[in-house]
Amino acid sequence: MASPQPPFTVRLALESDAATIAEIGVHVFTISFGHAVEPQSLATYLKNEYSIEAILKDVNDPSRTLLVSADQNGQVVGFGYLTRGSDDPCLGHVNQKAELQRIYVHNSVQGKGVGSLLANSLESLAQEQGFTNLWLGVWEQNTGAIRAYERWGYQTVGEHDFEIGSDIHRDLIMLKSL
Ligand SMILES: CC(C)(COP(=O)(O)OP(=O)(O)OC[C@H]1O[C@@H](n2cnc3c(N)ncnc32)[C@H](O)[C@@H]1OP(=O)(O)O)[C@@H](O)C(=O)NCCC(=O)NCCS
Repeated sequence: MASPQPPFTVRLALESDAATIAEIGVHVFTISFGHAVEPQSLATYLKNEYSIEAILKDVNDPSRTLLVSADQNGQVVGFGYLTRGSDDPCLGHVNQKAELQRIYVHNSVQGKGVGSLLANSLESLAQEQGFTNLWLGVWEQNTGAIRAYERWGYQTVGEHDFEIGSDIHRDLIMLKSL
């Protein structure tokens, strides 16, 4: 896996990180996927999912653990979610599973190992919490992320459609045994 350079750290997200997480989420989502979503649907999605209020709710959600990665100056540059209790129809046979959700790394530091660091940390956390499988959904056209997940040991086990406003997209469902 790519080694973090310069030294990046990982820690649990605090309520005081909500504004930065929201900012990174809006920025990275818009750069990465904005072209594929109708503008009004994008604005609604970002407001629902990446407002400070929405992130504060996630930080305090007992079914989620949010991690952030920071650079050597303490600046948060990425985040990831471990979500418990979520499921997908193609995972009915999979026990003791948790979801690796939303790994987002600011585009200014992508490719420097932050994503790998967050994924490793989320996997360790899942193992500590007794989970033996991690799953995720990733947009089928997000080839960079899919390649990263494959390098991290995830395999495609299914797919499902999801809606952003009036747009319908297809996610690949990927799974890794811990
Ligand atoms: C996908 C993402 C989380 C990866 O994080 P990152 O910090 O850029 O990735 P890393 O530097 O840790 O690299 C991870 C691995 O993927 C590879 N990789 C990274 N970007 C890649 C790309 N665009 N194409 C191919 N491989 C890529 C790296 O070589 C590395 O492989 P290794 O670990 O075997 O060395 C990050 O690029 C991102 O936030 N993208 C936009 C948002 C997104 O798509 N999130 C996922 C939504 S499901």
